[in-house]
Amino acid sequence: MRDSAIRTSIPATPSIHYVADVSIVGMLRLTMSTTQKSSILNILAQAVRPSRFIVMLKKIGRRFFDNDGSLSNDENLNWLKSNKTDFEQLANSLDADLWVESKSAAEIIEQQAHEALGRIEHNLGGGGAYPFLYFLTRYMAPDSVVETGVAAGFSSFSILSALDKNGNGKLFSSDFPYFRLPNPEQYIGIVVPEALKDRWELHIDGDEKNLPRILSNTDSVDIFHYDSDKSYSGREFAMSKIVDRLSANGILLMDDIQDNSFFHDWVQTAKPETWFVFEYENKYVGMVGTPSRRSD
Ligand SMILES: C[S@@+](CC[C@H](N)C(=O)[O-])C[C@H]1O[C@@H](n2cnc3c(N)ncnc32)[C@H](O)[C@@H]1O
Repeated sequence: MRDSAIRTSIPATPSIHYVADVSIVGMLRLTMSTTQKSSILNILAQAVRPSRFIVMLKKIGRRFFDNDGSLSNDENLNWLKSNKTDFEQLANSLDADLWVESKSAAEIIEQQAHEALGRIEHNLGGGGAYPFLYFLTRYMAPDSVVETGVAAGFSSFSILSALDKNGNGKLFSSDFPYFRLPNPEQYIGIVVPEALKDRWELHIDGDEKNLPRILSNTDSVDIFHYDSDKSYSGREFAMSKIVDRLSANGILLMDDIQDNSFFHDWVQTAKPETWFVFEYENKYVGMVGTPSRRSD
C-alpha cells in the first residue's frame, strides 16, 4: 500500500528527487524487514500459547484503556519532587558502614552483570535501584523477599547477594518474558550467578498468575519490590494481593512511580504511617514503611 501510494506520486519524468525517494524507501524496507520481521515472528511464537496470549492482550489493552489516576503526569512529577528525600542520607543514618558495603557490592554486581550481558546480542535494559535493594536486604535480614520484574536480573542478583551474605532468606520473583525476543525465557535472570540460585524461586507466567502462586507458598513477605507492569492497574493488582501479606515490619518498594499517579493515590487513600519518595538516576522509587533491623 505504502509503495503504491508513493508510486502514484511519481512524476512522469523521474527527477533526482524520485531516485532519492525510492532509495530511502528501499533502505527503510530493508532495515524494517530484518528487525521488525523477527520481532513479529517472536511475538507470534509467544502468542500461540494461550496463557501468554492473555497476558500480552491485557498488557496491550492497558496501554489504551488504563486508569488515568488522580493526577496528570506533570502534577504527579511535581508531587514527587516536593516529597522526595535522600536514600543515601536515610541509609547513612541507619548504618553508615553497611551503606559503604552496599555501594561496593553494587559496583561488583554491576560489573559482573555487564560482563554477562556482553556475551549476548540483545539489549535487555539496565537494572533499577539495586544499591538500595542490597542495603535493605542486608539491613532487614528478611526471611522472604518478593519482587516483580526480573528481566536480566540486576535486582534479583542484588537481593540474592545480600541474602547470601546474611546466610538466610529466600527470594520469590515474578516475571513475564520480553515477547519481542527469540526464546525470551532464556534471558530471564541471565546475570544471576548459578552459585546464588539456591535461594531463588522464579515464576515467569506474569504477575496475575505468579503472585497468587508465590503467596500460597509464603507465610508473610518482609520486603516487596514492584518493578514489572508499570500500568496503573498492574500496580493496583499487585498491591491488592501483597498488602495484607506484608509482615508487621515489612516494607514495600515501587519503581518508576513517575509513570502514573498510582503511588500518590495509594498513599493518600491507605494513609500508611511512613512512606518515602527517592530519586534514583532521574527516576522515582516509592517506599512504604520504615526499615527496621531484625532483632532475633
Ligand atoms: C524493568 S524490567 C525489571 C528490571 C529488574 N527489576 C532489574 O532491576 O534488573 C521489567 C520486567 O517486568 C516484566 N513484566 C512486564 N509485565 C509483567 C507482568 N504483567 N507480569 C510479570 N512481569 C512483567 C518485563 O517483561 C520485564 O522483564
